[in-house]
Amino acid sequence: MSNNDYPDIRYLFEPRSVAVIGASRDPAKIGYKVVENIVVGGYKGRIYPINPGGGDIMGLPACKSVDSVDGEVDVACVVIPSHKVFSAVEGCARKRVKHVMVITSGFSEVGNGAEEKKIAAFARQSGMRIMGPNMFGLYSSSSSLNATFGPRDVRAGGVAIITQSGALGLAMIGKTSVENIGLSAICSVGNKSDLDEADLLEYLVPHDDTKVILMYIEGVRQGEKFIRALKKATRIKPVVVVKSGRSKRGAAAAASHTGSLAGADNVFDAIMRQCGALRAETVKEAFDWCSFMSNNALPDGQETVIITNGGGIGVMATDASEKYGVPLYDNMVTLKEIFSPVTPEFGSMKNPVDITGQAQSDHYDAALDAALNCEDIHAVVALYCETAVFDAEKLPAMVKNNYERFRNARKPILFSLFGGENTERCVTELSREQVPVYGDVYESVSPLGAMYAYRRHLAHYVEAVDTVALDVNAINAIIAGARNEERYFLLTNEAQEIMKIAHIPIPRTLIARSLNEAVNSSREIEYPVVMKVVSKDIIHKSDAGGVALDLENEKEVIDAYEAIMRSCKAHVPGAHIEGVEITEMVSAGTELIAGAKIDPSFGPIVMVGLGGIYVEVMKDVAFRAYPLNRSEVLSMIEQIRSYPLLLGVRGEKTKDISSLVDIILRLGSIVEQCRGISDIEINPVMVYDQGMGSKAVDVRILLSKDQ
Ligand code: COA
Repeated sequence: MSNNDYPDIRYLFEPRSVAVIGASRDPAKIGYKVVENIVVGGYKGRIYPINPGGGDIMGLPACKSVDSVDGEVDVACVVIPSHKVFSAVEGCARKRVKHVMVITSGFSEVGNGAEEKKIAAFARQSGMRIMGPNMFGLYSSSSSLNATFGPRDVRAGGVAIITQSGALGLAMIGKTSVENIGLSAICSVGNKSDLDEADLLEYLVPHDDTKVILMYIEGVRQGEKFIRALKKATRIKPVVVVKSGRSKRGAAAAASHTGSLAGADNVFDAIMRQCGALRAETVKEAFDWCSFMSNNALPDGQETVIITNGGGIGVMATDASEKYGVPLYDNMVTLKEIFSPVTPEFGSMKNPVDITGQAQSDHYDAALDAALNCEDIHAVVALYCETAVFDAEKLPAMVKNNYERFRNARKPILFSLFGGENTERCVTELSREQVPVYGDVYESVSPLGAMYAYRRHLAHYVEAVDTVALDVNAINAIIAGARNEERYFLLTNEAQEIMKIAHIPIPRTLIARSLNEAVNSSREIEYPVVMKVVSKDIIHKSDAGGVALDLENEKEVIDAYEAIMRSCKAHVPGAHIEGVEITEMVSAGTELIAGAKIDPSFGPIVMVGLGGIYVEVMKDVAFRAYPLNRSEVLSMIEQIRSYPLLLGVRGEKTKDISSLVDIILRLGSIVEQCRGISDIEINPVMVYDQGMGSKAVDVRILLSKDQ
């Protein structure tokens, strides 16, 4: 069956009818709660409780089996013990149910993967889709459907949540309600036996009522599919991601918790950035971002002004702006012109604009008015420290009125209010009305940083990918040769051959089988050269005296050749020596590391970093998923701390960054197109001055164990 033969994902979120298989009359059971939530939640479609005992549940007649339902069933919710699920799913197939949500636990998460696979495979064969198992159900505002066993009261709004943790997701329903965050949908993906996050995005991305999508992730399985879906989603609306398993112990816990492997955190982080997803550190931060972005339009620019009545919190907000990537407006002429009429002489018109501790409600109004009317200012962070001169009664109205005015003008404004009881009450009450007020300076700046990061992504995103044509057959032939010898790494000459096929520059090399050939080859390559023994019997060439560096003339070549032969024969008696390899002595450049590999979660990824022998210590590396385009490779290179070395330090020339970009793209296409390769690493890749190119000096290639 092709994907088009399966029911539209829309029926999952907007079903015309829902059957609950395992609907119970016992209010303590999950099967009762689900029916109760559906009924009380005001679902408009038809509800069919299914229970072999028949009778009446929540005032609805129960059918003895799903087959006996009189009418179509779009979604079936399964809440019966795991050993009964398969037979219930068979019933759903006979009834031609479109989507089956299996809430039941007791499958792959506890080692019962075989049963889970059997159910998913059967459902797919029968043209149905499965959500779960081991999930809490689904809430969808578009159909007023609360088919979960979570809290009854779900606040409708613009945030959709997809979560991999069921318990956390259920708690999020309650928490979003307390935090006054309205939901357009929430569901857990459970064990993802069939439908996964990427499938759900298909509905949520074009869904008008969903303004922001929040995803809680523990591990990614079908990473390449996920990346494609995420990239598409962020073109349309912001996606905020919280991922647990940052620490090594956390990653291990996440892996055992969901039965899926949590990818290395730095790779995950890089890929989220590449996809334009906004990664929040905590659930609280994610909620703040989602709430803010679902209620406020993107501004026309990023020039931000901080308005404060206290110097200290102004400085803290400046620090926070740097941390969260919020640019502060610094045109002194304009700042002075617009803020001098509204700032006391002993205040400050620089950004942060300090209207001083004597500021009252109308002083804030005047200063905020000045910012609102200035076209060059796109957003404001307003800070308030409680003082005795500010009439506390007036605080809520001042904040709310200004918020409304800014919101209507599509200029984000966020408030940080710091003080005692009155101030705290104001924060609590206004947040309930979804006004962006916070009790902490950093909390007030962070949502604006997220909004700007998303805005920048939209502005700089280039859809196209730059692919490289390769002679895949030639590379695969080399891989096959190694596999025939049951070897899962390539020899230097094989790795070099692949570099040649992929047009990645390597040092010039010739094989010489006699002294005479060694002399001629050295002349051809041009001095200085390096000489290395070629013999399958000699593995550690340096130890056997088989390497000579920096040979500058014919005499040195002759001496080195004789010395190598003598020493190798003495070191490995009886070794068959085929000759020597003459290689150009690579001149010094900026030493980087470049690589590509097949990541267990995300498929092909590329890497760049500071190279040489300190790679492990410095850990100055950046990653991206492949395929990608030149500008994404460039942004990856710009991300490493050593990037200034490529721009040229202390009077050096700028390096040939473009040639490095080229190499990285080629490495990515090798691993993508020749899946027999699991890892390629060039360390060092010498990057020379602009126009002089780069060279892959030392190349290591590993093969994947499975074909
Ligand atoms: N078709 C329809 N109904 C059936 C049935 C079938 N084939 N087989 C049994 N039922 C009925 C039962 O008679 C019972 O109704 P009753 O109380 O009126 O007699 C109801 O379905 C529930 O069955 P029961 O055997 O009592 O199961 P349970 O309620 O104790 O447990 C689950 C069922 C699904 C809740 C449980 O197995 C489970 O998985 N719990 C964990 C759920 C979870 O945490 N999920 C992940 C969340 S993130």
